[in-house]
Amino acid sequence: LAPERLAGEEGGPLYMRLQTMIRGAIMEGRLVPNDALPAEREMAASLHVSRVTVRKAIQGLVAEGVLRQRHGSGTFVSSGVGRVEQPLSRLTSFTEDMRSRGLIPTASWLERSIGMPTSAEAMILGLSPAERVARFNRLRLADNEPMAIERAVVPARILPDPLVVENSLYDALAAVGMRPVRAVQRLNAENVGGADAAMLGLAPGSAALSIERISYLPDGRVVEFTRSHYRGDAYDFVAELNLS
Ligand code: GLP
Repeated sequence: LAPERLAGEEGGPLYMRLQTMIRGAIMEGRLVPNDALPAEREMAASLHVSRVTVRKAIQGLVAEGVLRQRHGSGTFVSSGVGRVEQPLSRLTSFTEDMRSRGLIPTASWLERSIGMPTSAEAMILGLSPAERVARFNRLRLADNEPMAIERAVVPARILPDPLVVENSLYDALAAVGMRPVRAVQRLNAENVGGADAAMLGLAPGSAALSIERISYLPDGRVVEFTRSHYRGDAYDFVAELNLS
């Protein structure tokens, strides 16, 4: 982003010319997804414009989805993931959901262990006393963009070695003939704070969807209890409604 270029951009207020210049840098590949923009102060100094101009230009491009602000770490070129439209009526996995959109799903592990369930987990999974759970806590990413934090428990008798889950929990369950066939999902609005907001790249108190999924095997046994936080600014949940 050079001052000569800004001077070369024609017409309109300065902040719009700066936007045109940033869009141009992205189109020409000089800025690529997830590249960080210089700090507002540095951009203003090197382009000989005011910080107000830089801020206005950036805010506009953030609103358009061209740039994304990550709390505490600055402004980045969007990965192009944009908002994801997620149907609510099909029992799919995160991995399948992202792949079907041409995005690469990955996970950053927060916890993968065998341990004792909480009393709520034991009740929901229908565990006998002293039965243990495999715990899978992950930050889930699509094309390196954080999308959701998921905390899943599965009876340990079903997945005694939690390390079998490398990428997809549902693939690991399918491999032992235990892929769920039905689930009940509950969605709530929530403001995320603390570590969860930071991992999702959100300012503390940002809007998120809190989703709980209880999944069942064909014989009615519960195989999975998952609590997650999905980024409110990244998801549209869509359901088809029929008059019955
Ligand atoms: C979705 C569901 C989770 C489920 C996960 C499995 O994200 N909300 O309840 O555990 O899919 O995804 P994967 O097989 O990619 O681990």
